Parts: sequence; C-alpha cells; structure tokens
Amino acid sequence: MKSKRVILITGGAGFIGSHVVRTIVSNYPDYRIVNADKLTYAGNLENLKDIENKENYVFEKTDIVDKKAVVDLFDKYLFDGIIHLAAESHVDRSITGPDEFVLTNIVGTVNLLNAALARWKGSFDGKLFYHISTDEVYGSLGREGMFTEETAYDPKSPYSASKASSDHMVRAYNHTFGIPVVISNCSNNYGPNQFPEKLIPLAINNIKNNKPVPVYGKGENIRDWLYVEDHASAIDLIFHNGKIGETYNIGGNNEWKNIDLISLLCRIMDKKLNRPAGTSEKLITFVKDRPGHDLRYAIDSSKLQKELGWSPIPSFQTGLEKTVAWYLSNSKWLENIISGDYSKYYDSMYSGR
Ligand code: NAD
Ligand code: TYD
Repeated sequence: MKSKRVILITGGAGFIGSHVVRTIVSNYPDYRIVNADKLTYAGNLENLKDIENKENYVFEKTDIVDKKAVVDLFDKYLFDGIIHLAAESHVDRSITGPDEFVLTNIVGTVNLLNAALARWKGSFDGKLFYHISTDEVYGSLGREGMFTEETAYDPKSPYSASKASSDHMVRAYNHTFGIPVVISNCSNNYGPNQFPEKLIPLAINNIKNNKPVPVYGKGENIRDWLYVEDHASAIDLIFHNGKIGETYNIGGNNEWKNIDLISLLCRIMDKKLNRPAGTSEKLITFVKDRPGHDLRYAIDSSKLQKELGWSPIPSFQTGLEKTVAWYLSNSKWLENIISGDYSKYYDSMYSGR
C-alpha cells in the first residue's frame, strides 16, 4: 500500500513550471514530486538548483509526445495527481513553426490523458488531472469587457488554437470517461526565470546591453500581467481545493498597453543602472507588427478570488522591480541561456522587421 501522494508535474524546468515545482516541493514535504520535462530550448534545470537535492523531488527527462515514454513513466511512479504545464508557449514561434505546437500541446496532452485513464480506470478516488492553460484561448477583446469562465473559445494564433484543442480534449475526457480534471486559464506571466524571447525579459536584456527594444506595431496592444509566484500560489490552491470539472480564470487585474509597460520598464532600468533619466527610452524601436496580433486580453478572476480566497500581489511596479533586480543579479543565467540557437532565432525573427 502506497503511503505518499505521488504528483507528476510536466514542464517543470520551464518558466512557470519551475516556480510551481519549487512551491509544491517546499509546501508538501510528504509528497513525492516527479518533474518530467523534455528540456527543449525553454527548459533549464538551472532554474531548480536550489531544490534539486530535496528528498521529495525527482527529475525525469521525458518527451510527452513519446507515447511509450509517458506510459513507462506512469508505470514507474503510479501518480495520483498531475499538474500539466509542458507546452510550446511562444506565439511568435507558433507562427513560424506550428507543427511542434500541435505535437506537444495537443498530442502530448492526449498521451498524458490516455496514460492517466489507463492507470486510474475503475478508481478515480483521490485522483486529479490539472491542466494549465492560457487566457489566449478566448481570443481577442476590444476596448471593453473581460474574459470570464463562460466566454466562448475563439483562439486566433496557432499557439492559442493548440492550447484550446488541448483544453477541449481534457474536458472531453472528463465528460466521456469520467476522469477527474480541473483547468485554469491564466493571463501573461512575468518574473524571474522567464526565457528572454518573451516581452519583459527580452526588453530587460536589450536595455541592459544598449540594444534596440522592439515594440510590435504601435505598441497599442494590451496584456494583463501577473507575477509568476502568484500564478504558482493559485495553482497550488486550485490543485488542492478546486472543484472537479471546473475552470478557474487567473489574472492580475493589471492591464498595460505594451508601450506604457516598456516605458515604465525603461524608467526602472535607468534607476537600477544609474543611467540619466530618459536614456533607456531612446532604445524603443517600433517594428513590423506580429501577424494576427491579438489586441487585448483581460481576465476576470473573481471566481477564484471568491471561491478559493486567492489574490495577487497589489503592485506591478514592485513586481517589475523585483524582476529587473533578479535579471541584473543573474547575468550568468542569462548568458548561459542565450545560446547559439537562441541568437539564430533572434536574428531570424527581428532582422527583417
Ligand atoms: P516555457 O516555454 O517557459 O516552458 C515550457 C516547458 O515545457 C519547458 O521546460 C520545456 O522543456 C517543456 N516542454 C516543451 N515540450 C515538451 C515535451 N514535448 N515534453 C516534455 N516537456 C516539454 O513555458 P511557460 O511560460 O512556463 O508556460 C508553462 C505553461 O503555462 C504552458 O502550458 C503555457 O501554455 C501556460 N501559460 C503560460 C503563460 C505565460 O505567460 N507564460 C500564461 C498562461 C498560461
Ligand atoms: P509575449 O511576451 O510574446 O506574450 P503573448 O504574445 O503571449 O501575449 O508578448 C507580449 C506582448 O508584447 C504582445 O502584445 C506582443 C508584444 N511584443 C512586442 O511588442 N515586442 C516583442 O519583442 C515581443 C516578444 C512581444
């Protein structure tokens, strides 16, 4: 008879996944936590150096697209719970190469669902498949309104379409086979350990190195930003107290136009780097827009706040200052991550813009 809860976290070497692994490993010393990650360009075990030797933690290099590898993993560990974060996550990459998004985000999720179903059939008691998704599945908002859990799906990019597909498969497995699931859809995250292809770390890195800061179109697009540790605490809460079959929206109630966000970041960077005010803003460069660029995302997270008592940190300025401080004092992390491959990607993405 097994005594410990055994939890699979997929994508735990990535940006959000590493914060989730740290949170669960630290909060639940009695669990056995298995981090399964393929270690793509976005996966980095350095993110987990501080907890890698904990007794309740183990890493398994696994590609969730490989059906046999997933089945073997389930046979080896007999998981009770799954927190599924592994994904291809960058919209721009999904535009230049959608295939990988279909494989990892859709096929990979179905492989996990099939393995869980085969293992759990007949005894769903105490079991949970928690699927981590994005607000981008709801499509793009105009100037008014917010996404609620009832908003109809209307994904617009290959990334969001692949995430929407995986959400539908998770719900279909719950409805058809009875597998216990919960889903959360979160807004844009920021914070330490984010790969510098996403807006905030890319801008911090470029400002630091006096390189142009590319702003797509006129910088009018709006995102709702959430500090990554707030997302990890919401995931912990939903995994333990969320209602089976439900969806929870997670957001920072913190909407920013890209150009305003970058200007704020420039002011913070000037102070941190002791540069005269206005120096970094001169680096802002408007470039060709992203094809099909969603105008605005905004999340109504009142269900999560009311039902489970979650709330995000109140100040974006504080979160951004912490993030900038982390990147400036972890330049080795940044140097290691900006490999030859990433430089090639960066050149191909921005040279013609
Ligand atoms: P990320 O790109 O930083 O990390 C993804 C991780 O998944 C990496 O460690 C990578 O190695 C791993 N991975 C990729 N393909 C894999 C495969 N085939 N098998 C096993 N592992 C694989 O992503 P992130 O920003 O941390 O996002 C994590 C999850 O949260 C994703 O599901 C994403 O859709 C969702 N999400 C992200 C945001 C955001 O703002 N970043 C917002 C809402 C939801
Ligand atoms: P991103 O971090 O890629 O997240 P997402 O596309 O999932 O929202 O981009 C955030 C916003 O910033 C989005 O509106 C696109 C814009 N953006 C730029 O203006 N310049 C850039 O170099 C990048 C990467 C993004």
